[in-house]
Amino acid sequence: MMLAGPERLGRRLHLAATLLVTFSTWLSAYFILATNAWMQHPVGFLREADGRLTLNNIWALLGNPWLLWQYLHNQSAAMVTGSFVMASVGAFYLLLRRHEDYGRMFLRIGIITAAFFSCAQVFPTGDGASRRVFEYQGTKAAAMEGIFHTRRGAPIALIGQPDMQNLTLDNPIYIPNALSFLTYHRFSAEVKGLTAFPRDEWPDNVPLVYYSYHIMVGLGSIFVGVALLALLLLWRGRLYRARWLLWAVMLTAPFPYIATMAGWTTAEVGRQPWVVWGLMRTYDGGSPVLNTGNAMFTLLGFFAMCLTLGIIYCFLIFHTVLEGPDSTRK
Ligand code: HEM
Repeated sequence: MMLAGPERLGRRLHLAATLLVTFSTWLSAYFILATNAWMQHPVGFLREADGRLTLNNIWALLGNPWLLWQYLHNQSAAMVTGSFVMASVGAFYLLLRRHEDYGRMFLRIGIITAAFFSCAQVFPTGDGASRRVFEYQGTKAAAMEGIFHTRRGAPIALIGQPDMQNLTLDNPIYIPNALSFLTYHRFSAEVKGLTAFPRDEWPDNVPLVYYSYHIMVGLGSIFVGVALLALLLLWRGRLYRARWLLWAVMLTAPFPYIATMAGWTTAEVGRQPWVVWGLMRTYDGGSPVLNTGNAMFTLLGFFAMCLTLGIIYCFLIFHTVLEGPDSTRK
């Protein structure tokens, strides 16, 4: 009904359909993330005599303290993505000097929304998510930040490459004391390094956690810069003619997808070696009845299906954008 458009449905019914789609996707995301939050931070369960875990409190699961920042951060990531894609299509039309009325509308709504949610991605949601990881998942936090040894007044590494042999960061550029301050609000606070934890509890791939986290945060900072600059020029009435910025906005569109992937890589690779944090190792989560060949077959099947859907999706999106908004108003 939403896709049928207001011309066929009438404005009110179309608005109702759109609100229902929004509500149900956000509710669906809540339940999906509640499941993930339970694996990150298990609550509301009993351990039976035979070692099985039984969920005995659904409200604890739905009100998991892990869920609040995870949900807000993840949904805000979706808003950043959607708004930059919208602004990017608007910038594309203005650069081509086609469908300019729509172009200006897409750009204006896209940039205002992107500016709000890009900032929310850093603070309060990104900040809340990191402090919660430091509180409950010390090994993931240390891997994300590339901190190998416990220290007071820990710096933030803007760049640098983890060296797993010597347990250091190569070629780092640091902001002194910043990590201690951002995490514990004291410049001299102690931050635990990876070596403070048993080696068999470290994430299997520390560099991947470190790089994916830095890609997410680096891209997030670029989004804030681009969106705020565009907002400033919009306010001054110069955005629609600033072709260099229209190019920048247009080219930003794929990167929120990459930041989202990087965010999930941080959360999930960083959770290793646990499938349920502190309770069950990924190694013990293997099914006794499914063999490797079957698992591989299913995985490749999903891969092929996602690839096919992805190609069709890109084709349809590009086709619709090139046709222009007027073509949908038949
Ligand atoms: C710039 C500042 C940012 C900070 C400080 C930050 C912080 C974090 C942290 C600490 C996690 C790991 C949470 C966990 O292990 O469960 C995370 C996950 C994630 N991030 Fe970010 N992030 C930032 C920007 C972004 C951006 C720009 C996007 C996408 C547009 C993004 C998307 C995600 C997603 C999808 C996840 C996985 C879901 C979750 O655990 O919340 N983040 N982020």
